[in-house]
Amino acid sequence: MTRVLSGIQPTGEVHLGNYIGALQHWVTDQYEHESYYCIVDLHAITTPQEPERLRAATLDLAATLLAVGLEPDRCTLFVQSHVPEHTELAWILNCVATFGELRRMTQFKDKAAKQREAGVSVGYFDYPVLQAADILIYQADRVPVGEDQRQHLELTRNIAQRFNARFGDTFIVPEPAIPKVGAKILDLQNPLAKMSKSADSPQGTIKLTDSRDVVAKKIKVAVTDSGREILASPDKPAITNLLTILSVATGKSLSDLEDSFRDRGYADLKREVAEGLIAFLEPIQERYAELLGDPAEIGRQLEIGATKAQKVAQATMAGVYDRVGFLPRK
Ligand code: TYM
Repeated sequence: MTRVLSGIQPTGEVHLGNYIGALQHWVTDQYEHESYYCIVDLHAITTPQEPERLRAATLDLAATLLAVGLEPDRCTLFVQSHVPEHTELAWILNCVATFGELRRMTQFKDKAAKQREAGVSVGYFDYPVLQAADILIYQADRVPVGEDQRQHLELTRNIAQRFNARFGDTFIVPEPAIPKVGAKILDLQNPLAKMSKSADSPQGTIKLTDSRDVVAKKIKVAVTDSGREILASPDKPAITNLLTILSVATGKSLSDLEDSFRDRGYADLKREVAEGLIAFLEPIQERYAELLGDPAEIGRQLEIGATKAQKVAQATMAGVYDRVGFLPRK
């Protein structure tokens, strides 16, 4: 059976980009594959986090993931720091990955350009190696992610191949599963940038927990493209973005939506996106509130997930320690 692994950071709130690019596919994958989904708190601390907020955000994120449809009986949902083998493998992979290839990661380069490179944490620089460990430790075949993770997945594949060549076949070389539509949902205020948790324009990001008024407002003021036609095409990034959002919210195909908007204007499109999105988010928000009412139950589910995940991770680590030549403990 195909094995799936993916992860999401407990920083900021989950937004539509996360849902459309990744989480909706996590939900469908859990019915078809053996799926592991990880809340990556160790990745979160590569930038400064306030401890109490991080703890709360981790629980919130677990509730959100369950609310969008992850089922603990169908997938293994866990917190990264609950399975310390991830960091053990990351150390070993650190000795396989090179400084040069990490330096080329665009995420690092962007960060180093924004602030002084000397001020970027070593953990931030090393972040992609921990991500490789997350994936390889589960011998994952398939990694459902958005477009922004493509380079990290390429690095993971390179590290796996290099390790296998040096020490003998140990890791599955994983394939990224990047969706054809919705892999890069754009900022509603700036269609040149991806929608992001750290967006400088909060108006451009729709959170899954946004109230109906907030959703309606953000869609209303969304930037549009020049022209009048409502088409999903590369020269209409903002309209394509809105159509993609509407398609996910309503389950209608892009071409059906294009047909239904022939000879209609942007104001109509925006009205339908807002209505569709509000109707789509409402049941998710209800489940989220319900789930958060019982944090002990979420903790119980995460514990079950960590136990299941750790079994797989420990088996991989035993093989890795042997391969690299460590003396077994008596
Ligand atoms: P993170 O937490 O930034 O994002 C979680 C997922 O959401 C996708 N995503 C988007 N997709 C489409 N449009 C957008 N605007 C958008 N913004 C975010 C991301 O591509 C991602 O799939 N490094 C990862 C977390 C990670 C991970 C892993 C992923 C850690 N270990 C192992 C896969 C496998 C990250 O920071 O994702």
